[in-house]
Amino acid sequence: MNPLASASIVVAVSGGIAAYKAADLVSSLTQAGARVEVILTRGAREFIRPLTFQALTHRPVHEDLFEPWTEASLGHVSLARDTALLIVAPASANTIARLALGMADDLLGAVALATGAPILVAPAMEHHMFHHPATRGHLTTLRGWGVTVIGPTSGRLASGETGDGRLAGVPEIIGAARQVLGRGGPLAGRRIVVTAGGTREPLDPVRYLTNGSSGLMGYAIARAAIDVGATVSLISTPVVLPAVVGAEMVHVGTALEMATAVDEQTARADVLVMAAAVADFRPATAAAHKVKKQGGTATMTLDLVLNPDILAGLDRPGLIKVGFAAETDDLVANARAKLDAKGLAMIVANDARDAIGSPDNEVVLLTPGAEPEYVPRMDKDDLAAILIARVGTLLAGNRP
Ligand code: C5P
Repeated sequence: MNPLASASIVVAVSGGIAAYKAADLVSSLTQAGARVEVILTRGAREFIRPLTFQALTHRPVHEDLFEPWTEASLGHVSLARDTALLIVAPASANTIARLALGMADDLLGAVALATGAPILVAPAMEHHMFHHPATRGHLTTLRGWGVTVIGPTSGRLASGETGDGRLAGVPEIIGAARQVLGRGGPLAGRRIVVTAGGTREPLDPVRYLTNGSSGLMGYAIARAAIDVGATVSLISTPVVLPAVVGAEMVHVGTALEMATAVDEQTARADVLVMAAAVADFRPATAAAHKVKKQGGTATMTLDLVLNPDILAGLDRPGLIKVGFAAETDDLVANARAKLDAKGLAMIVANDARDAIGSPDNEVVLLTPGAEPEYVPRMDKDDLAAILIARVGTLLAGNRP
């Protein structure tokens, strides 16, 4: 399940204009179920008020290294001890330098030194400050200690200039937090390849045949696998979803491109999950120029040729293959036939009419020689966590 749910996380906000974005981060973490404690550095308090974070977390905000110790709270000691993850966002050049030098004369510095939890740093600053050798060196030091650095990204900066130094987006920071918290989970050391989206089969330079697949299921499976520590490659057609943080993203268009990518990516993988909707047929030829209407003809005939069945054709001893079956009739019987014909360890069967493009799904899981398992309708993220748990069981059964 999402490792943010019920995790204790410290978010330290340092001084910079991006401090206002930390409110969104804290809100998103709280909504995901995390218990968030906020530290504001002296610089951060110039940009944003503690009340903003108190309102979002329903807890007091920590500012002072020397706040009174009580039975319930031992200041920096309990913050450092009780947290599963320390996120520094935004991390200013000054804060990064202080962390790299191990300065402990403020609360963040003391917590960073005292905690055994992983640390995630999201820098945000002016372009030249980020590129200064001092800052680069400090970030190298932090990375050397195992700190995860996310961003910054390029774009418009508060100065009005364009450059490097924008705080990574909240979804990217959240994705990195999930990855860090998932490290060492039950699928640590396992390599999983996931495909997602509908393939695009070109007719000419501007037109293609495709289907309504949104990619949601495959992306959710990739995230769920990262949540439990797996190393993930996500082979995706063009979809309107953000990249999955922590996955190696492989972008493809056609079924043939997907076949090549699957072949390459599974060379060292333990599991392949084919969630993509692969076109069975492609136009026999893709015109080099835009196809024009023919004067006087009201119809057009397309010649289609069969695409290879990627899943059925992949024969890698030891690779666990998981497929999907979108059916409109005789769901279980049709899916079981595909399970056998494609040599799968598991097939996820669903009704094509309400699964494709929908945010939730109701499925039946089939494995060789076992009774069907009916999984009730749920959000694709929750379903993905169940599927990855089943993949874990299959992997455990595969162990020599
Ligand atoms: O035979 P059908 O298309 O229903 O099988 C669905 C499963 O097979 C899905 O997992 C899909 O990703 C995979 N598939 C494939 N190559 C194709 C067609 C489907 O790998 N050409």
